[in-house]
Parts: sequence; C-alpha cells; structure tokens
Amino acid sequence: MIRIGVRRGAVRHARSDILVHFVFEEWQNSPRALRVIHGLTGADLVPAGGNGFAGKERETLLLFPRNLSCARLLLVGAGTHKNWSSERLRRGGATAAKAVRGMGLRTASFIEPEKDVTAPLATASGEDPAELYAHALAEGIFLGLYRYDRYKTRRNSAPERLTKISFITDSPSRERAIARGIARAAAVCEATCFARDLENAPGNEIYPESLAAAARSAGTRSGFSVKVLGERNIRSLGMGGLLGVARGSSRPPRLLIMEYRGRRNGQPPAGGGGGPVVLVGKGVTFDSGGISIKPSAGMAEMKMDMSGGAVVIATMQAAARLKLPVHLIGIVPAAENLPGGSALRPGDILRHHNGMTSEVDNTDAEGRLILADALSYAGRYEPALVIDLATLTGAVVVALGHVVTGMMGNDAEAMRLLKDSGDRTYERVWELPMFEEYEALIKSDVADVKNTGGRWAGAITAAMFLRKFIGPYGWVHLDIAGTSIMEESTDYTTRGGSGVGVRLLVDFLRHRCAR
Ligand code: BES
Ligand code: MN
Ligand code: ZN
Repeated sequence: MIRIGVRRGAVRHARSDILVHFVFEEWQNSPRALRVIHGLTGADLVPAGGNGFAGKERETLLLFPRNLSCARLLLVGAGTHKNWSSERLRRGGATAAKAVRGMGLRTASFIEPEKDVTAPLATASGEDPAELYAHALAEGIFLGLYRYDRYKTRRNSAPERLTKISFITDSPSRERAIARGIARAAAVCEATCFARDLENAPGNEIYPESLAAAARSAGTRSGFSVKVLGERNIRSLGMGGLLGVARGSSRPPRLLIMEYRGRRNGQPPAGGGGGPVVLVGKGVTFDSGGISIKPSAGMAEMKMDMSGGAVVIATMQAAARLKLPVHLIGIVPAAENLPGGSALRPGDILRHHNGMTSEVDNTDAEGRLILADALSYAGRYEPALVIDLATLTGAVVVALGHVVTGMMGNDAEAMRLLKDSGDRTYERVWELPMFEEYEALIKSDVADVKNTGGRWAGAITAAMFLRKFIGPYGWVHLDIAGTSIMEESTDYTTRGGSGVGVRLLVDFLRHRCAR
C-alpha cells in the first residue's frame, strides 16, 4: 500500500510532484476559489471558462501555474458544497489518486480544505472534523489505488510509481487529528485490501487449507490466535453440514477459529454486555453448485464465495492492529462445493452440530448447511452477539442489487448500530423481514428443515434456515452476495471482490465498545 502522512507547514513550501486541491461546483471560477488558491499557493490563476471543468465529482483539471513550489496543480471536482460528505471525500480521494498515478508521478500533497468546509463532516457523533476528513480521504486513496495484479507477469499498465502522499495542514492540533485519521484508515484499508486479495484469489490458490494458512499468518502478523480444526475434529463435533458440503471435493474442509482479546487499558478483557462478539463467515472457497450444478456462465465468480470468511479474518486483523477494547471470536467454516463421486446428493439428509437434521433439496444451497454448524458451535462462547457474513443468495442481489447488504436478525439494537455504521462507512445495510409466514417455506417432509424455500423470498428463507441453528444470543445475518462481488468498478472499488464488511464491522465494534 502507498504511504500517506501528514505534514505541517505552509502549502507554498510543499515540495511534491503535484499539489491537489478540491474545488466545489459553486465556487468554480469564482473569485473565492481563485483567492483561496492564490492565498495558499501563491499561484496567480486567471478565471477562464471553456476548459470543461465545472467542479463536478470525478472531474479533474491539471494546471502548471507559475510561482508554485510544486510543478503541477490538480484541481479535483468535489461536487456541490451542500451535501458534502465523507463519502464524497472518499470518491474525491480515489479520483485524485488514480489521476496522479495515471500521470506516472511519485509524490503528491493534498491541500487541506478550509475549516468551514470540513466542519459539516462532524455529525452528531461528535468526532473531530479534521480526523474524519483525513480518515475518509485516506480511505478513498488507499482503496481507490487497489489492484489485483498478482498474476500479471508483464504489467500491462504503468508500473506503480506513486509512493508517497502528504496531507498538508498549518495547525498543530489538526496535524495530530489528521495523523490519527490516517493511521486508522491505513489499518482498516490494509485489512480491506487483504480481504479483497483473498476474495479475488482463484480457487486453485485459495482452498480450505490455504485459507487457514492465510488466517494463521495474519494472526501471527497482527496479534490474534488461530486454531484450525481438520476433518477428524469436525466429525467428532458432529458438523454434518460442513462435512457433507466438502464431500464432493478432494480438498478436505477446515474450521477456522480465531480469537482476539482486547483490553481496556490493561484491565480485564472487555465484553460489552457480557460475552464476546462472535463473527461467523461463510468460507466456500469455490461454489460449483455441486450435483445441482450451476450454469457455466459466470461460475468463475464463485471463487469469491468465501468473501464472508475473508472479511472475518481481515476484521480480526484490523481489530488487533487497532487494539480495539473488545473480545472477538472469528469462526470460518471452509469447504469447496464440487460435484465429485462422493458428493452430496439432492435428497440426502444431514445431521448438524446441534443435533438437528436438514434435507438437502438443492446442493447449491450449501452456504446455509455449513453456517448452521458454525452458528450452533458459536453458542459455546456464550456470546453477547453473533454476526454472520455470507455470500448466501442470488435472491438478495435480485432484491437489493450491488448497492446495499441485506440484513436480518433478532437483535434490534445491534441492527440499529449496524445501520448507523453502514451510513458512516457507506457499506450500507438494509433490513429484510423475518415474518413467521416464511417459516412454512422451509418445512421438510423427512427432516427438521429443508435447505431451500422455493422461488420467492430466497434471501429471507435462507435466513429463516440459519435461525433454526442459533443459540441463546443476539444474532445478525448479513447477506453480502451483492455487495461483495462487484460486476463493475466504481470510484474506490474495483470489479471483483470489494472486501465489504471490514469497514462496517470495525466501525461497529469501535462505536459499540465506546459505549
Ligand atoms: N453462493 C451462492 C449465492 C450467490 C449467488 C452469491 C450469486 C453471489 C452471487 C449460493 O451458494 C447459492 O448458490 N444459492 C442459491 C440458493 C438456492 C439454490 C436456494 C441461489 O441463490 O440460487
Ligand atoms: Mn451455492
Ligand atoms: Zn455459495
């Protein structure tokens, strides 16, 4: 990842390959904008139209003014000043960073917006506006520059030359706040990019055993413990769902168990409402559908069916790095869903960790089968809250597209906090109902429950299935099938795995343990 730092001093003394300045639509070409730029940089700009730059989002204008300590000045459109938000800063940061990288430059300095410009960022949360500014801008830059090019032997795009970005400020107190914002963004974005790398990695690189190895090295690197259970242990725990799904593949399943015990200034481990928070992530390292095989068009993207697991591992990493005062457990059931000779058959009946049986109506509804075991197993930690993340259903993509994560659960307070975190981080969530009528759809003639619910309300019937296996704890299910697997690149997400969930959960845990 690129380095971002804060530098205190006057903009006119900055020495970088380029200076970056955000310009709002309202002030484009106005005396105010030119006066501000002149005051900061000493550059004399003449008002001129016809350059196609109107200060709209995603617009940039490259200038070479005289009397500038840096050779170039990049104006970046920030859109309208009203409704200015952290999200627009993220997008602006990504636009700027990608433009600078595209020019082949090595260093850039970002001019701090005037105080009255960043003030509205600090909403009711009472956080420092300078810290929020730096956090959002750095997120846009870090995430916007992400590329998955590990397997490109001859890079077809320009080599990575951009190495250092500075945020300039002239105030010592804002310098400290900006440094805090950058540091937090760096930890969270490194984790997000780690999750993206795991998601984008092909199925021949990431399978249950190698996913476990990736978690182990993340744990060693950042300070959380990792235990990995193999097939024998999984069997003795009675996890028929995880074993069943893995049966069609020559790659054996794994159960990853991670733990991080944050402390409140050296005090006993924090709990926040008693027990730990348990994160459960679906770790299907490739989902062919099994015997109920998927159509081949688009099947390749099912290498990302372990996104939930990747996000749980990455969130453990971020929490440990940031030393969040929270007791966190991560559980990832990992398996590959293939139609081998000993694969699950439609009609098979499985017995799960809690003793309940499920009828496998469709082997492509495998996520819920392995999550059932993991959710039941989570009960042993007497958790205050369990959050599961899964690329669980195509139906949630039909309902909500790639814009927002589907949320269901039984803990209204946790869901409210997650909604707030989603709005802050823009990893938004939207609740779908779990009305009792849906329950009838997953009734089985032969077992306790059936793993499909028919044509309608597929995201909800999947959650109804999971609910059968939860213990006496608060529970929230996040169906990230749409938000994790992106078809198009946007400002700061690239086509492929988005790492969605890491920023959401870190923000949630920070605010939850701050109570
Ligand atoms: N991993 C898929 C869900 C999925 C679909 C994720 C598209 C991302 C994009 C899941 O295992 C699955 O196949 N679900 C089935 C369930 C059905 C058979 C009840 C689905 O949604 O079609
Ligand atoms: Mn499936
Ligand atoms: Zn799946």
